[in-house]
Amino acid sequence: MSHFRQAGTFTLGDRTVNRMGYGAMQLAGTGVFGPPKDHAAALAVLRAAREAGVNHIDTSDFYGPHVTNRIIREALHPYADDLVIVTKVGALRGEDASWKPAQSPAQLEQAVHDNLRNLGLDVLEVVNLRIMGDVHAPSEGSIEPQFSALATLQQQGLIRHLGLSNATATQVAEARRIAPVVCVQNQFNLAHREDDALVEALGAQGIAYVPFFPLGGFTPLQSQTLSDAAARLDATPMQVALAWLLARAPNILLIPGTSSTTHLRENLAAVELVLSADVIAELDGMTPFS
Ligand SMILES: NC(=O)c1ccc[n+]([C@@H]2O[C@H](COP(=O)([O-])OP(=O)(O)OC[C@H]3O[C@@H](n4cnc5c(N)ncnc54)[C@H](OP(=O)(O)O)[C@@H]3O)[C@@H](O)[C@H]2O)c1
Repeated sequence: MSHFRQAGTFTLGDRTVNRMGYGAMQLAGTGVFGPPKDHAAALAVLRAAREAGVNHIDTSDFYGPHVTNRIIREALHPYADDLVIVTKVGALRGEDASWKPAQSPAQLEQAVHDNLRNLGLDVLEVVNLRIMGDVHAPSEGSIEPQFSALATLQQQGLIRHLGLSNATATQVAEARRIAPVVCVQNQFNLAHREDDALVEALGAQGIAYVPFFPLGGFTPLQSQTLSDAAARLDATPMQVALAWLLARAPNILLIPGTSSTTHLRENLAAVELVLSADVIAELDGMTPFS
């Protein structure tokens, strides 16, 4: 698609993907638990993403659980050669919708097989280890046992490439001593920039940085600075938030999530928005709710 060329591409392992992708978490039910309110609409979002040129979709078997992967399979299987589906392992859902760490080698192996079965794949293109030391933010602690277990599954041919999620720079370095890391998926957006230095460091090593909650996640971004900039650019605040991330660093790959085809189209169109240095400086200087 011509408009995707504007945002360019970046590599995930040995694959090249458009920098604007799609995150499928919103396709499960409320609280990322159970089936979606509108199954047909969920299928339509995925098909619209593909028709628009999206070739990078982020998911996990713990969304639903199982629900999101099965919807992806129903909507898009058999998968086109250019599509890269990235998944993550390391958590399970309780019956009360809670998120529980599941990081033993046996649980990680089970999670890989769950992803393979529910996505309908023989090999997973990219698997992120979702670190769960602190569920809400990266926290230090060795990930050697978990990452080694995934490296073994990679050697067995079940996984092509590995990544990390909710990781510190120290954990990225530890993982890279075990096996190559092709991407890091941490929380990062206009209001959460703790990873500024990590984004740069990964870029220098050719590693993709994939911000989760690019639009603020469960608390969508709200800021007068953002709204004012959007009004001046004849764009929406969400589009400006995504354009700011695209401008932030060339190794940033976007996976905004939505359950709405209208929102999807709005988000994808953010690749056409070019922010001037002045607007970027204004946004850089904003505080979350200013
Ligand atoms: N590794 C991790 O720990 C982790 C954690 C969270 C997420 N993720 C991944 O990151 C992806 C993105 O995160 P996310 O989906 O949680 O958050 P997000 O992309 O920051 O925002 C999604 C929220 O924004 C709304 N939204 C989307 N587009 C909009 C638009 N144009 N206008 C108004 N509202 C809009 C969505 O509601 P509607 O459905 O109504 O559009 C949804 O409530 C996920 O899909 C998932 O794949 C990873």
